[in-house]
Amino acid sequence: MKETTLNGKVFEEIISKEQIEQIVHELSQKINHDYQGKQPIIIAVLDGAFIFAADLIRNFDFDHQFRFVKLSSYKGMKSSGEITHLLDLDINIADRNILIVEDIVDTGVTLHHYQRKLSAQAPKNIEICSLLMKPNSLQHKDLAVKYCGQDIADEFVIGYGLDWDYQGRHLPAIYQLRKD
Ligand code: IMP
Repeated sequence: MKETTLNGKVFEEIISKEQIEQIVHELSQKINHDYQGKQPIIIAVLDGAFIFAADLIRNFDFDHQFRFVKLSSYKGMKSSGEITHLLDLDINIADRNILIVEDIVDTGVTLHHYQRKLSAQAPKNIEICSLLMKPNSLQHKDLAVKYCGQDIADEFVIGYGLDWDYQGRHLPAIYQLRKD
C-alpha cells in the first residue's frame, strides 16, 4: 500500500491517479451528454475543487461559462458548521443552468447552504458534481449530488486538491488518514 506522511500523520492511498483519471473521464462524458445546448454556468468551489475542476472542464465539449467561488467551513480536520463566503459570484444567474463543482461532500452543510443561496437568485436549474462523497456523514439527506465520482468512508482524505491545513493538495492520488 502506498503511503505518504504529513506533519507526522500517515495517510494511505485509496484512489490512484489512474482511477481518478477514469472517474473524471466518466463524469465528463455524462455531463457532456446532459449539457449540450444548455450553456450552463460552471461554479467551482475553492479551494479544494481547483484541480478536479481544471481536469473536468478540459473534457467538456459544450458552451459554458466558468466561475470560482470560495466557501469555507473547515478548520483542521472538522467542519466548523459555519459557512464563510470569501469570494462571491459576480454574474447574473437568473434563468441559467448551474453546475456546482465540488471536491468532496462530507456533511453536506456547505453545499446545502450554498444551493439555498443560489436558489434565491432564481436560476433555471442547479445540479452538483462532486469528485468524492462521504454518505455516512451526510446530514442533509435531501442534498442531490447528480454527478458523484466515488463514495468513500467517513475518514479524512487528502490529495488531488484536498488539503489538511493547506498541505497535501499537490498529491496526484487520494490518501486517507491511517488509523493507528
Ligand atoms: P461539508 O460542508 O461537511 O460537506 O464539507 C465540505 C468541504 O469540507 C469540502 O469542500 C472540503 O473542502 C472540506 N472537506 C470535507 N471532508 C474533507 C476531507 O476529508 N479532506 C479535506 N477536506 C475535506
